[in-house]
Amino acid sequence: MTHSPVRTAIFPVAGLGTRFLPATKATPKELLPVLDTPLIQYAINEARDAGIQKMVFVSHSSKAAIERYVMDDGDLRQTLMARGKTELAKQLKETSLHALVDDVVFTFQHEPLGLGHAVLCARDHVLPGAVAVILPDDLILGRSCIGELIDTYQSSDCGYVVGTMPVESKDTEKYGILSVTERIGSLLRANGMIEKPKAAVAPSLDAVIGRYVLDEIIFDALAIQSPGAGNEIQLTDAINSNAKSVGLAGLRFSGKRFDCGNKAGMLQAALHVASEDPEYEEILGKFVFQGRSPIAA
Ligand code: G1P
Repeated sequence: MTHSPVRTAIFPVAGLGTRFLPATKATPKELLPVLDTPLIQYAINEARDAGIQKMVFVSHSSKAAIERYVMDDGDLRQTLMARGKTELAKQLKETSLHALVDDVVFTFQHEPLGLGHAVLCARDHVLPGAVAVILPDDLILGRSCIGELIDTYQSSDCGYVVGTMPVESKDTEKYGILSVTERIGSLLRANGMIEKPKAAVAPSLDAVIGRYVLDEIIFDALAIQSPGAGNEIQLTDAINSNAKSVGLAGLRFSGKRFDCGNKAGMLQAALHVASEDPEYEEILGKFVFQGRSPIAA
């Protein structure tokens, strides 16, 4: 079966980021940096590396800084040019999204009605065909995770392909959990998924992380989806509602994932990135104690 190309990526970025208060009072969590690179930039790079043509950001009116970050800033470039910082101005132009993808849209989720609702908000802006959904909180370093999912989607008969990783039973209630029917290498075929189940009722220990490739039929499912966990419209529930007919698979992606939705994950990500740069060797060395490195993951 050949699927049509996946050309649109949706970035749900309307969340208030309460776990990072007070920093997120003024700075959207997606702009918090891992060393010097904001989370949203990693997500954008991942989508770009996967050949995405259109990016739809589902944002909130209080988070205008994301749009400022993503869009080209001609005034800033002119100021830099006037100060002789030509190279920096050139770099800004090259990394501004319009230079890299065909289309960028900002749309808004005015009320926090859930991830499923956020994805539905993007419906009128996506190109025909399946869509990619990327949650920037889940930072994945290494090969483009969404690219791997798209490749899997293209070569399988499943209409829904999601990123998955194994978790401990105490953690099932933090994730969507797949109901796995068959394991073929890194591919886990499933007939459904449940949002944040307690360990006792979790169908597996295979958690869904924030990467999805979804047949466009997902929008019909979302449009009629009633609120679920947390009284929110859950993407998990909409996927689950027609998983058997559309076909669902999880992919154990090859990259390394950091949960940057919390402080510990952010710290781990920063330490990991720093540990790969010789410039920080000395600083990190000072934190090595009793033969154990705090960055050993
Ligand atoms: C969301 C999804 C959940 C998924 C998780 C991955 O939950 O609802 O199914 O496992 O992202 O990070 P959240 O972390 O936004 O509560």
